[in-house]
Amino acid sequence: MDRITIFDTTLRDGEQSPGCSMNVQEKLRLAQQLDRLGVDVIEAGFPIASDGDFEAVQRIAASVRRPIIAGLARACKGDVDRAWEALQGAARPRIHIFLATSDIHLKYKLRITREQCLEQAREAVRHAKSLCADVEFSPEDATRTDVAFLCQVVEAVIAAGATTVNIPDTVGYTMPEEYGQLIRTLREKVAGIDKVTISTHCHNDLGLAVANSLAGVQQGARQVECTINGIGERAGNASLEEIVMAMRVRPDRYPYETVVASEHLFSSSQMLAEITRVPVQPNKAITGRNAFAHEAGIHQDGMLKNPLTYEIMTPQSVGVPDSRLVLGKHSGRHALALRCEQLGHQFERRELDEIYRRFVVLADRIKRVQDSHLLELIQDVTSGAASQVSDATSSQTKKFPPIGATMPLPRAAAAAANDSHSAHISGSAGQSTLSIPFADHHSDQEDYLWGV
Ligand code: KIV
Ligand code: ZN
Repeated sequence: MDRITIFDTTLRDGEQSPGCSMNVQEKLRLAQQLDRLGVDVIEAGFPIASDGDFEAVQRIAASVRRPIIAGLARACKGDVDRAWEALQGAARPRIHIFLATSDIHLKYKLRITREQCLEQAREAVRHAKSLCADVEFSPEDATRTDVAFLCQVVEAVIAAGATTVNIPDTVGYTMPEEYGQLIRTLREKVAGIDKVTISTHCHNDLGLAVANSLAGVQQGARQVECTINGIGERAGNASLEEIVMAMRVRPDRYPYETVVASEHLFSSSQMLAEITRVPVQPNKAITGRNAFAHEAGIHQDGMLKNPLTYEIMTPQSVGVPDSRLVLGKHSGRHALALRCEQLGHQFERRELDEIYRRFVVLADRIKRVQDSHLLELIQDVTSGAASQVSDATSSQTKKFPPIGATMPLPRAAAAAANDSHSAHISGSAGQSTLSIPFADHHSDQEDYLWGV
């Protein structure tokens, strides 16, 4: 099967979603999770955009060594140099340059001619290539660009040294057949295209980002740009989990493989929701809380007789926690560590010990420790640790303020006593209210009738 490169842009395009900005620590934590998930490329940020973004790219480049780390740059020397500076410590750096090519962008946004655009693209790629072997070029708004001109630009950047050519449907305007046809045209008309990787980058304004990306793959694209939970500008980008699972569930239609470890999809989705405090929509394919829920009696009956009646993939295959594993006072460290991992948290022994100690205190008071309680407990422990890490250069503020260390489990215990089912757990007098998105998840997770 042909191998598809998964280019994750959650930390760059994803972060451009309203309300989804992340600070340096949060980006680093998510980058480590993306590494665990097995993505091939992490677009870590847009270094010229802010000092925080520069630092995030720099720190991710220095500590996440397996995947390629990409930094975004406009097609000008200053941007390219700044991206390259941020990528200095990377084991496998990539400079990603973009420049709009559609007439509407050239005329109203950039106020340059097609000839100037062509020259600027060529020049920026040439300069990037003098610094870094791995250079990607994106003609922004490619799907609304005159096709002959698009071919000319793509040919020019390949000649200048680009190794990946990305074809963005920047405004989410294209239709699947049309997008597939565009990729096919580029393959037929552009000299040198067979020496580079063609990439898709589709936005979801008409809900077609995944369909368009898959159409592109069918016509020869071998890299897909996507994000966890499909976050991104406006309606978002193609959802990583949907792309990966579409290929895995339907190899008969999509005989392509990725090296994504699908059992980490759910925890990655949860981690992102927790960091950004943007909950996953309940009916979100693959990672929404209803994705494996069966409500209708006929469906429940079928599921109990044979899960294949209504399930095209198992919850386990995407890492949805097994609802049979109940956390209570008799649970051990192993079960606790596993559930933490499924919620997107990996701990060193010492931290796990502290979480376990507090967990036992809580479990002694209530019968069953829900995920919402556990997440709050984790937050209590890790916010104490995180507040000791210097984040002074970050321009963004922390979303979770440290919680008073003298009160071991105030909110979790209160919430448990109230049999909390709510995403909003009030603190005791004088303390702020802490909102945890994952608490939106059904408390008993009995939605997951799988195997129960
Ligand atoms: O949507 C877009 O065109 C982009 C480019 C910067 C690749 O995000
Ligand atoms: Zn985009």
